[in-house]
Amino acid sequence: MEELPLIDIRDVSFRYENRVVLEHISLQVRAGEFWALIGPNGSGKSTLLKLILGLLPPQQGDIRLFGEPVKTFRQREKIGYVSQKSNSFNSGFPATVLEVVKSGLTRKKGLFRSFTKADEKKALDALETVRMSEFAHESIGQLSGGQQQRVFIARALIGEPELLIMDEPTVGIDEQNVRQFYSILQHLNEDYGIAIVLVTHEIDLVTNLATHVACLNRTMHFHGVQSDYEQMGDDDVAKWYGHPVRRLHGGESS
Ligand SMILES: Nc1ncnc2c1ncn2[C@@H]1O[C@H](COP(=O)(O)OP(=O)(O)OP(=O)(O)O)[C@@H](O)[C@H]1O
Ligand SMILES: [Mg+2]
Repeated sequence: MEELPLIDIRDVSFRYENRVVLEHISLQVRAGEFWALIGPNGSGKSTLLKLILGLLPPQQGDIRLFGEPVKTFRQREKIGYVSQKSNSFNSGFPATVLEVVKSGLTRKKGLFRSFTKADEKKALDALETVRMSEFAHESIGQLSGGQQQRVFIARALIGEPELLIMDEPTVGIDEQNVRQFYSILQHLNEDYGIAIVLVTHEIDLVTNLATHVACLNRTMHFHGVQSDYEQMGDDDVAKWYGHPVRRLHGGESS
């Protein structure tokens, strides 16, 4: 029997008031897959993620998570989410980096349970993953935007999710750390089997790492395995985007 998809989107349409943003979207994300979700500004990528997470209700269609309708899905710890432009903390915010990462566990533990040594260890491991352990005891507000973003990523990882959903997580992170971050994602995907849905404008970097690519622009113009995406011509991609897109070809193989 085929395994249930982790995300199952069927014929979903969505509008904000009068503005239709998504039309007849269907997509299945299965265990072990790494999806790059691409498309121009305003094409509905963040909206689609919010629908998946149950933060917005679709006017039409059906979304299931791990086989369960989003509305009644309760196993939130299975999903790690990093939103676009995570709230940044101002310099006076009274929490350490370690505390912010541990707050990713509160859904599991209940608000008033205290954290254990094991939680502390998990938080430090998550910080190590994003190469931020040396900042564990600093206050979050003192970090740069890109460093804060890496802490948010650690917070999404601490619950040991089976599925990571990230909306432009590398905005504000410098090039070297972006590459390091993507290689961490690849490691989480390949060695731990964590499924990933990553929204990005760094098309070439990410479509080379991903197993699957989805190109959204109100409708789903393309979704499929990475090698099929690589075969698509620049004129196709330009049609999906509505303007020419600079692309490198074929990864290392061509
Ligand atoms: N809360 C809202 N109310 C009304 N319209 C919205 C709202 N949020 C987004 N939109 C509109 O919906 C469309 C899709 O927005 P969305 O944020 O999903 O795009 P996106 O693909 O994530 O873009 P970007 O690459 O710039 O992040 C845009 O036209 C946007 O103006
Ligand atoms: Mg967006």
